[in-house]
Amino acid sequence: MAKTTVSLIKADIGSLAGHIVVPPPLFNIANEKLEDAKRSGVINSFLVFNAGDDLELLMTHDRGENSPEVHGLAWETFKAAADKAKKLKLYGAGQDLLKDAFSGNVRGMGPGVAEMEFKERGSDPIVVFAADKTEPAAFNYMLYKVFADPFNTAGLVIDPKMSGGFEFEVLDALQNKTVRLKTPEESYHLIALIGTTERYMVSKIWRAEDKEIAAASSTTKLSLIAGQYVGKDDPVCLVRSQSGFPAMGEITMPFLHSYLVAGWMRGSHWGPFMPVGLKDSKCTVFDGPPRIVALGIQISNGMIASDDEGHPMFADIFADPAFDMARREALELAAALRRMGEFEPARLGPEAMEYTTLPLVLKKLEARFKEA
Ligand code: F6R
Ligand code: MG
Ligand code: MG
Repeated sequence: MAKTTVSLIKADIGSLAGHIVVPPPLFNIANEKLEDAKRSGVINSFLVFNAGDDLELLMTHDRGENSPEVHGLAWETFKAAADKAKKLKLYGAGQDLLKDAFSGNVRGMGPGVAEMEFKERGSDPIVVFAADKTEPAAFNYMLYKVFADPFNTAGLVIDPKMSGGFEFEVLDALQNKTVRLKTPEESYHLIALIGTTERYMVSKIWRAEDKEIAAASSTTKLSLIAGQYVGKDDPVCLVRSQSGFPAMGEITMPFLHSYLVAGWMRGSHWGPFMPVGLKDSKCTVFDGPPRIVALGIQISNGMIASDDEGHPMFADIFADPAFDMARREALELAAALRRMGEFEPARLGPEAMEYTTLPLVLKKLEARFKEA
């Protein structure tokens, strides 16, 4: 059987009332463009949704990863939506489209991409994660817990298909190099790297015994592309589930609690990750807290499994009281951190602040310094 590709491509191309939420007219444009592309056979199925101010295009097709047709479609869709955002004078219109001419792949041009190609199993459940006001390394902790921590994922101990462990690909965003580490044998080394969230991020995960793809996440560093602050990289991640991969309930387990991620206001603060349903997928207090949505889908014969009317079906996983505790914790952590204002560690350290507007402020003081 042919392989299926799942592509999740996202960009912030303008939003309603500052950086809060993607408004309906931009969804309409994305839905129209992707419907046309489905009709003409570029993609098989799609789902448009948002993570705060980021427009998320989830697509299935059989063109493989990094397909110029599919990436071109996403680029054109973002451009059309950005034009509409500009007409409406929405905030940050066109913000993430950093380059003028499309060169066959949206990687390195601003939008974030998570893609995986695989031969469909009898049934293929996937969790689609999308976050706002944070960065790709925000998934490091979650992915370690899901694929390498037996206290999170019972299957690592109980399921013979998983007890051989997983292989993590880690990107060093500064050097633009990758390294592969195998768990459980190298789990301490893995944490040594990915605990440094400012620099290292998990890009892909495979099941060790048969090298079957298990997870893929976006690794865009907008600041390294643009050389300056252009908003955080608001990441996306795809995780395959069940029958030899972590169960849905193991993939969502890390969000029983909140944890701290970099981003939030002006991309300059540590903030609590808050799991939310789609209706709460908007960033408000102090431009946050950084939020994450999780959609459970089934891949079925090259498509996102759809209902009787042909609409793709999804389970809005975090729209559930089971995540109320994490949300409450997130607000408590938010209050504690914000009491500290602009003092570290509430604010990010000086290296991360290099890519914000703070250096412009510090420059103004430079001439006033005298030898001590
Ligand atoms: C964070 C983000 C926002 C803005 C903030 C200031 O990724 O996009 O927190 O940084 O609202 O925005 P400006 O400088 O455009 O007024
Ligand atoms: Mg924005
Ligand atoms: Mg955003």
